[in-house]
Amino acid sequence: LPLPLLAGLVLCVALQTGGEPCPANCLCPDPHTVDCSSLGLTSLPDSIPLDVRRLLLADNLIERIPADFLVLYSDLVYLDLRNNSLSAIELGTFVTSSRLVFLDLGCNNLTEIPAGTFGGSHSLIKLRLGSNPYLSMVSKDAFSGLTALRELELERNALYGLQVAAVSQLPSLRVLKLEGNPWVCNCNFSNLFTWLTKNSDKLPSGFDGMECSLPLDGRRVALNQLSEDSFRGCQLTLTLTDYLIIIFSGISVSVAAILTSFFLASTVHCFQRWSKANKTDEEDGDD
Ligand SMILES: *[C@@H]1O[C@H](CO)[C@@H](O)[C@H](O)[C@H]1NC(C)=O
Ligand SMILES: *[C@@H]1O[C@H](CO)[C@@H](O)[C@H](O)[C@H]1NC(C)=O
Ligand SMILES: *[C@@H]1O[C@H](CO)[C@@H](O)[C@H](O)[C@H]1NC(C)=O
Repeated sequence: LPLPLLAGLVLCVALQTGGEPCPANCLCPDPHTVDCSSLGLTSLPDSIPLDVRRLLLADNLIERIPADFLVLYSDLVYLDLRNNSLSAIELGTFVTSSRLVFLDLGCNNLTEIPAGTFGGSHSLIKLRLGSNPYLSMVSKDAFSGLTALRELELERNALYGLQVAAVSQLPSLRVLKLEGNPWVCNCNFSNLFTWLTKNSDKLPSGFDGMECSLPLDGRRVALNQLSEDSFRGCQLTLTLTDYLIIIFSGISVSVAAILTSFFLASTVHCFQRWSKANKTDEEDGDD
């Protein structure tokens, strides 16, 4: 064997075996990939090599990611936790994940995405949060800081509403999945509806598969069938004219109320005097 080739081989082997070994039962197909998918794990594996870039943990039963877990893995680019049993993302978990590009938390048991959850993930491009059947609360600042995010998946969750600021503040967003949620078409939904209408190019299949239920009788309506006019009763931004009308009608109502009570009081007073006078007349007559 020629010497350079031999040296290369030795170096290669040294790199493969250098650092920490592959966690038990996991596969490490290349020096930066750790694949512990489908192992029935209930917690994160120990001794994951510190230079891991792709960490595959899908199809396990992992219930918790300690808030400081990712601090050690600052090279992490790709994290797949799809189909696990996570019920919460602890605050600060993703604060140090500045290289993370892909994060899959779909098919878990998340209930809420609080403000600033992905604070440090400036490089994140794809975020999958779909198929969390109890996920009903997404803060309006849940995705703040995700300036590179292009794809956001929130389909098949339990969202009945979503503040439009949560998605409208993402400067790089190209694909947004929202279908299969139990939206309620109340006045709060009107702002989201308006935004979605203007940004329908971001919805992979438009309004298909999106329905909302009417607040009063729960009847489901396809979003395709609604227009901004459907929410006309929900004009929450008041113009100057609106204010003038409100103030003026307020004044008119008060004036009318004062006049009416004055009139009623006088009438009652007159009536009392009149009946009193009548009574004395009658008594006079009897005499
Ligand atoms: C989810 O993971 C379990 C193992 O924990 C597996 O049996 C199941 O097929 C997976 N579901 C999907 C949709 O991949
Ligand atoms: C998911 O969460 C719900 C309620 O939040 C709970 O009843 C259920 O047991 C959880 N499922 C799993 C697999 O953790
Ligand atoms: C509308 O949104 C506000 C603020 O997010 C919330 O307090 C209120 O309960 C919502 N109303 C309905 C009917 O969902």
